[in-house]
Amino acid sequence: MEYFNYRESAGGRELFAEDVALSQIAERFGTPSYVYSSAAFAARYRAFSEAVGDALVCYSVKANDNLAVLRCLGQEGAGVDIVSGGELARALAADIAPDKIVFAGVGKTASEMADALDAGIRQFNVESEEELEMLAGLAAARGCRAPVALRVNPDVDAKTHDKISTGRAQDKFGIEFDQAERLYDRASKMAGIDMRGLAIHIGSQLTALAPFEAAFARLGELCLRLRAGGHAVSHLDLGGGLGISYDDKGQLNLTDYGALVQRTGDTLGASITLEPGRWMAGPAGLLLTRVVRVKRNGNKQFVIVDMAMNDLLRPALYGAWHDIQPVIPRPGDALPVDIVGPICESGDVIAKDRALPELRTGDLIAVRDAGAYGAVMSSSYNSRMPAAEVMVRGAESALIRPRLDYDAMLARDTLPDWQAGQA
Ligand code: LLP
Repeated sequence: MEYFNYRESAGGRELFAEDVALSQIAERFGTPSYVYSSAAFAARYRAFSEAVGDALVCYSVKANDNLAVLRCLGQEGAGVDIVSGGELARALAADIAPDKIVFAGVGKTASEMADALDAGIRQFNVESEEELEMLAGLAAARGCRAPVALRVNPDVDAKTHDKISTGRAQDKFGIEFDQAERLYDRASKMAGIDMRGLAIHIGSQLTALAPFEAAFARLGELCLRLRAGGHAVSHLDLGGGLGISYDDKGQLNLTDYGALVQRTGDTLGASITLEPGRWMAGPAGLLLTRVVRVKRNGNKQFVIVDMAMNDLLRPALYGAWHDIQPVIPRPGDALPVDIVGPICESGDVIAKDRALPELRTGDLIAVRDAGAYGAVMSSSYNSRMPAAEVMVRGAESALIRPRLDYDAMLARDTLPDWQAGQA
């Protein structure tokens, strides 16, 4: 399942996205640009769905929210997991059926919940008693019942990066495990609530099966206790979190994960929902950037590129490692360089001490596995225009999110009356 490959072309060995040379994309759309392979998205969705059997696969929009991506996955049959009114608007615009939309998140506002009720979404994953009360009130006022799963915090360490661990007792997510039965009982008696089951999500970029096993087992125990107490508990949402291999050092096996999911669903006789984001989107995209300048300071060789931490925050925020590939590798030995962005922060480093063939001003570089948590986390820090987004399908390529120009940037600001007209 590799959709970005080196091929022999007129200019020598060159990296392609499906059947399109990345140099052509750079020429046509400029850099920096995210480049997505629609075949990769479709193939990954199919492989994942096959591995998890009957489970409803609700792609986590937060990983990559581009409409073209949502539409591509929606056409394959995916539902979505959303965490905001903005993501709801995107999902509906991409024609995702409301009965395949689950709404997660600790801070859903009243207006976001009202919009989701009006849209008739599949399920709210409720994370606190106060949220439950608010949702019940909104539903009752509309004369409907909100379909709810309680998101519980199983207090399991996902053994991933601290900033993306969500299932430990000290994390802000989910309902305290010991409170779940009491709250489930209470919720079942609320007029505006239709209790359907339980949800968990213990973290992202998990590379071992054991934390999933532990969390699913705890969820299973709670499910059985609730059933013993007379509740149906027909739906279990097992969240997302399946990691990818950024560095080719091995990853969690999809088949093993799928078998665990299916076992959990079969043993408990429940309908299963999953919320994968990164696994679906990460390897389906790369960030294409051009070398602006090469400079040496003492022993350090810096390659300054036209992307920065405002385009891809993961290295600066999590110390994340992304593979770097020259689009047209120059012959000769690989030497260690730091790939850095132009932003005025020492943390604006994309890759440190990477052994790469010689890079010169104007060369193109691909930052791999940037399809998830890349464009969605971009900002306009330093008044930089975030990277454009391009989708490839076979030999076709299309701009799916243009780069803003300076007029569009300036149009976002308005002057207060007392400054308007002043020179
Ligand atoms: N469901 C819930 C409730 C979540 O909070 C998340 C991710 C997912 C599903 C999808 O998880 P995935 O399958 O993608 O691991 N920005 C970070 C990742 C943050 C993940 C937040 N929640 C990064 O770049 O690594």
